[in-house]
Amino acid sequence: MEIKKVGVVGCGAMGSGITQVSAQAGYQVTVREISDEFLNRGLGGIRSGLERQVERGRMTAADKDATLGRIKGTTRLDDLAESDLVIEAAVEEIEPKRAIFGALDKLCPPTAILATNTSSLTVIQMAAATKRPEMVLGLHFFNPVPVMKLVEIVKTIVTSDEVVETGRKFVESVGKTPVFAKDQPGFISNRLLAPYLIDAIRVYEAGLGTAEDIDQTMVLGCNHPMGPLTLADFIGLDVLMHIAESLHAELAEPRFAPPPLLKRMVMAGHLGRKTKRGFYTY
Ligand code: CAA
Repeated sequence: MEIKKVGVVGCGAMGSGITQVSAQAGYQVTVREISDEFLNRGLGGIRSGLERQVERGRMTAADKDATLGRIKGTTRLDDLAESDLVIEAAVEEIEPKRAIFGALDKLCPPTAILATNTSSLTVIQMAAATKRPEMVLGLHFFNPVPVMKLVEIVKTIVTSDEVVETGRKFVESVGKTPVFAKDQPGFISNRLLAPYLIDAIRVYEAGLGTAEDIDQTMVLGCNHPMGPLTLADFIGLDVLMHIAESLHAELAEPRFAPPPLLKRMVMAGHLGRKTKRGFYTY
C-alpha cells in the first residue's frame, strides 16, 4: 500500500495541523471543510504557521510555497475521491463521523485507508459504517500538531496488520513517533490524561488552591509545560467533557465523570481559549 494523496476531513485545529505536516512531508493533500469561512480560517492558520517558520529561518520561502502548493481546500467531500488515505478530523460526535465514513466508503477507491483522529470515540463504530472495516484505523494526533511528536495508532479488532503497518510508515514519514493502542476507551493518552485533568478541576472546585497555584504546582513542581487548567482550556472544555463522558459511559467509573463545574462552564459557553474564556480569560 503506497500513500501519495492524502485527504483530510475538517480544517479546525487538528485537521489544519494534519494537513500542514502531511503537505510538508511531500504529500498532495485535499482538505475539506463544511463552509468557505471555516476553510479559509484553517488555511490561513497553516499559511501563518509556515510563514513563522520562514521568519525563524527553519524553512525557505520556496519550501513554504511548495508546501502550500500541495494543499487544496474544498467544501465538497467528493473532492477526496482520489485519496489513498483519508484522515477524518471533524466534530467529535459519533453520528456525524459515521455519516462521513459511510460517504467516504462510497467515494474512495477500495484500496483507500480511512482513518479517524478521534480522541475518545470508538473506532470500530466508524469502521462499521463502511464496507471495508479492515481498512479503518485511528491516527490520533496531538495539539498543536506541528509541534507534538506523538501519534497514537489505534487498531480495532478487525484492522488488518497491513493497514497498521502502512499507518506506521505514514506517521513516521510526517516526522512523528507512533505508539500502538487498542480501540478501548481513551486509548492510552486519554485514559491517563483525562482523569488527571478532571481531578485538577475537582481540586479547583474544592477550593484547594487558585487556578494559578494549581497550574504553578505542576509546571514548577513537576516540569509540565502547561498546568492542568491551562491545558484544559487549551484542549477545549467541551472536548474534555466529551472525552470524560465517553470514558464514563463505557467504563462506569466515577473518576471519569465530568465534574459539575466543567459541565456548567460548557453550558455557559466558556470553552477555554477558543471562546477566550475558561479557567482563565484570554
Ligand atoms: N502551531 C504551531 N507551532 C506552535 C503552536 C501552534 N499552535 N504553538 C506553539 N508552537 C511552537 C512555537 O512556534 C514554538 O516554536 P519554536 O520554539 O521552534 O520557535 C514552540 O512551539 C514553543 O512555543 P512557545 O514558545 O510559544 O510556547 P511554549 O514553549 O509554551 O510551548 C506548547 C507551547 C508547545 C503548546 C507547550 O506549552 C506544550 O507542549 N503544552 C502542552 C501541549 C499538550 O499537552 N498537548 C496535548 C494536548 S492533548 C491532545 O491534543 C489530545 C487529546 O486527545 C485531547
